[in-house]
Amino acid sequence: MIHFQFKTCMVACAAMLLLLNASRAQSPSKSAIDNKISQVIKKMTLVEKIEMLHGNALFSSAGVKRLGIPELTCDDGPLGVREEVLRFDWKSANWTTDSATFLPNGSAIAATWNPAMAHAYGVVLGEEANARKKIVMLAPAFNICRVPLNGRTYEYYSEDPFLNAQLAVQAVKGIQSQHVAACIKHYALNNQEVNRNTVNVIADERALREIYLPAFKAAVQKGNAYTLMSAYNKVNGYWCSENDYLLNKILKKEWGFKGAVISDWGGTHNTVAAANNGLDIEMGSSGPYDQWYFAKPLLAAVKAGKVSVKTIDEKVRRILWVMYQTSMSANHPAGKISTPAHSQSAYNIAAQSIVLLKNDKLLLPLKTKSIKSIAVIGDNATRTFALGGFGAGVKAKYEITALAGLKSRMVSTADIRFAQGYRANYLASQTPEQNAGYDKPDKALIDEAVALAKTTDVALLFIGSNREFESEGGDRKDLTLPFGEQALVDAVTAANANTIIIVTAGAPYDLNKIKKNNHTIVWSWFNGSEGGNALADVLIGKINPSGKLPFTFPASLKDSPAFALDTYPGENLTTPYKEGILVGYRWFDTKKIEPAYCFGYGLSYTNFDYKALKTDKKAYRPGQQVSVTVTVKNTGAVDGMETVQLYVSKAKSAVQKPEKELKAFKKLMIKSGQTTPVILTIPVQDLAYYDVKSSSWKVEPGNYKLLAGTSSRDIKQVGAIAVSAK
Ligand code: BGC
Repeated sequence: MIHFQFKTCMVACAAMLLLLNASRAQSPSKSAIDNKISQVIKKMTLVEKIEMLHGNALFSSAGVKRLGIPELTCDDGPLGVREEVLRFDWKSANWTTDSATFLPNGSAIAATWNPAMAHAYGVVLGEEANARKKIVMLAPAFNICRVPLNGRTYEYYSEDPFLNAQLAVQAVKGIQSQHVAACIKHYALNNQEVNRNTVNVIADERALREIYLPAFKAAVQKGNAYTLMSAYNKVNGYWCSENDYLLNKILKKEWGFKGAVISDWGGTHNTVAAANNGLDIEMGSSGPYDQWYFAKPLLAAVKAGKVSVKTIDEKVRRILWVMYQTSMSANHPAGKISTPAHSQSAYNIAAQSIVLLKNDKLLLPLKTKSIKSIAVIGDNATRTFALGGFGAGVKAKYEITALAGLKSRMVSTADIRFAQGYRANYLASQTPEQNAGYDKPDKALIDEAVALAKTTDVALLFIGSNREFESEGGDRKDLTLPFGEQALVDAVTAANANTIIIVTAGAPYDLNKIKKNNHTIVWSWFNGSEGGNALADVLIGKINPSGKLPFTFPASLKDSPAFALDTYPGENLTTPYKEGILVGYRWFDTKKIEPAYCFGYGLSYTNFDYKALKTDKKAYRPGQQVSVTVTVKNTGAVDGMETVQLYVSKAKSAVQKPEKELKAFKKLMIKSGQTTPVILTIPVQDLAYYDVKSSSWKVEPGNYKLLAGTSSRDIKQVGAIAVSAK
């Protein structure tokens, strides 16, 4: 097994940060490539052009052979390059060469709070995409985590637009560093799976601009994303695949997006509206392909004058532009798959994503010298997470389970025995009737687990969910832990005073009772090929945990904004986002509601002391930057990484403002006993709100508070600045 060193990881991170090179905005200026593209388009027939605008198989659209234009091949998706499916069928193609690195899921990447990790993720995905001859990777996915029940929360990043944007930009840059196109998805406001194909999301302009669109904007303007996937749902009355406002006005005109808009699979509804309102390529799941909206009907619409040839040419231009950056670029690399470096990246991400929720008895890290016997309990200890449910998975080249990871680290010093504890009786493909009883405890398995736990020094209890229980195509019905896990937790906790709870999941769950009754809680994710090794290293202290929650864990579902305002999943296929900009911690903080675990929360095996917050000036003008320095000391006995989070608050405002908003963060390694100044910068322009009346961003003059903390609710240092109108 490959054992990776924490230090190696740190050096890699630092090097990576240097590599996060300058952004290339998508300037609309004419270039040599644009001229080449014009020449190619001149040689094409209308039929050839239209063939490029719709799928010709599950994961490709046509090229033009006689002109040397290849097919545009694409593939899912966030967790790694998916297993090869048949050209016209979702069934496995039964290849033997399509095993890939299983990369940590989206919320795991977000929990690292480290853009360098998102970049590393992207590089692996890009290299493996090349090895599989895929031009477009349908990733990253970063819809805002608006409702904690969303079945795809595990694929997405965060409830916060700033954290979301920092990660999305680097994931895109990482993928595209390999001349593979990222396809940022799902644009926009695809925040629930229930009714996702039919629901009309009603969102106000500030919520759009301040919460739901910033990561897309950043991925286009700073990440230079080559392609974008329109979402299934409607936004403010129009399907996302034919939403003139979202596609033409904002994405293409305002943000200067030069690439291609690809529909989600089967997410196109009309020919003329989609063609004129900004969709470039129609994709879907089944033929006959020549009957699709963007096939023969589009040809007919052009002939009838309802869609202009100029519009068709513009779409072809966009696709060719993507090709010149990718498969047709001079320095297109050959790619590689499942290399040791890929495993290293998967390990690094996983290692930085694990969140220590509670360690009251300092049972962690495990005292490996004195622990002679360990009960490893729970289905999740032996389960793999690369596949499951609907949506893209990976045929993982290998995946280290938690039990395998632990055994590889501790087999020589401790007797490790396993009991299953619960039965994960739930399949996403089954009906509720077929899944009935999935939440019932299994008495025989609990008895067996209790008997084992009574005999060992420590009980490591692995609970949570899996890739069947959290899945595309559906949301969970509530926050309850599945499979009767609470009963198992209660029984094992009563049997062994040294019970450590380890939850593996991709989204928030109800941990109230565990938080109250248990002294030690670790949170992990669907953490990729190296997940078990990273988790074991956190448990034994080789890795000091540094993950921070990328979303709020509500104490009760009804505290969460969409539920408090009764807007989920909506009525008559309409869901008004009544909470506006108060999503996630913005809601909880502003309404003074105590969550179970707040945004940005996560402990370490050491402690960090914050001192002396200062700014380079007291007063700023628009266009300037606020430079904030806070001095952080590692006061504990071990080295550790800390994520300094900087929030901004404005007490008096002409418009509604959340209690506080994340505006900067920095993750860094601080050695035991070391004191280091941490400098964070906020462009004054980032203090702006979106002014609906003037359709522009406005920085309100006045006083702002700066809040530096180790989570959104553990603010350690406060400062103040003034901003003038001019
Ligand atoms: C998903 C997309 C995915 C596509 C192709 C759709 O159902 O929403 O995220 O890329 O399928 O697999």
